[in-house]
Amino acid sequence: MMTTASAPGKIILFGEHAVVYGRPALAMPVTQVQATATVIKRVALPGDIQIEAPDVGLSANVNALPRDHPLAAVIHSVFSALGIDRPPACTVHIESTIPVASGLGSGAAVSVAVIRALSSFVERPLSDQQVNSLAFEAERLYHGAPSGIDNTVITYARPIFFIKGQPFEPVRVAWPFTIVIGDTGIPSPTKETVAEVRRKWQADTERYEKIFDQIAVVVHEARQSIKAGNVSALGPLMDENQALLRDMGVSSVELDRLTEATRKSGAMGAKLSGGGRGGNMIALVEKEKAAVVAEALINAGAKRTIITQIR
Ligand code: PMV
Repeated sequence: MMTTASAPGKIILFGEHAVVYGRPALAMPVTQVQATATVIKRVALPGDIQIEAPDVGLSANVNALPRDHPLAAVIHSVFSALGIDRPPACTVHIESTIPVASGLGSGAAVSVAVIRALSSFVERPLSDQQVNSLAFEAERLYHGAPSGIDNTVITYARPIFFIKGQPFEPVRVAWPFTIVIGDTGIPSPTKETVAEVRRKWQADTERYEKIFDQIAVVVHEARQSIKAGNVSALGPLMDENQALLRDMGVSSVELDRLTEATRKSGAMGAKLSGGGRGGNMIALVEKEKAAVVAEALINAGAKRTIITQIR
């Protein structure tokens, strides 16, 4: 007996960080990268669950890991949500093509894939809402105080308009558009950038609240433009969002260099995506220019690029 489930990566198109402070944000799934969990029955005593995650060099029994280890915690949470005390022995195999700690949602995608594969394995598949809420609990271990945007966009695998603590709104993309994603190759745990923004916000609340409000205006305009199919309006809005993220102090020399390189090679706009400092940036391009912009990114030092269509 074997079950398997996959979940996509994601980008934050607009509104990261401000979303932690109650402002709206827009996030989109990236299906070119995926996390996959496969659960295989094992002949062993009930409760004996082995995790195999070769991508991160993990091979361990769940019971040998600390209870707050993100993977152990997510596995325990599934059984506890289902009221299963002695789960059947199994191996949970995890693979992911989503780079870790880079703002593409690898942690949330692994959680969603594991929750779905495990709950199907015990023949009690959970609803999207339940999957989302368990993935959010796991995100807290990765992130500290997450807004919940990552687990939501990844669970539902569709473009979303998101405000913390509220039901998300699916966003209808009237006209598809192309995004080139460039990876600085610098790992940057979101937990750290979120904590840093919090310190700065505490030290100068007025200034930061003003930046968050300006970002909220950008997000609302972007949402209207996406709904109206007005793609050309999105480029300048991305540039504006990037300027505000720089003011906030979460950009970096590398992110600035990559965003600049895409603009020079014909992108309509560009910004960092996710926690910032390192990780990924995104550029809006005309479809025909995607390859040229991706090449410019590599020349400017990007470790890898992904071209994705938002629809
Ligand atoms: O996981 P990341 O790096 O895409 O960051 C998520 C976006 C933040 O707004 C920075 C944090 C959050 O919890 O919303």
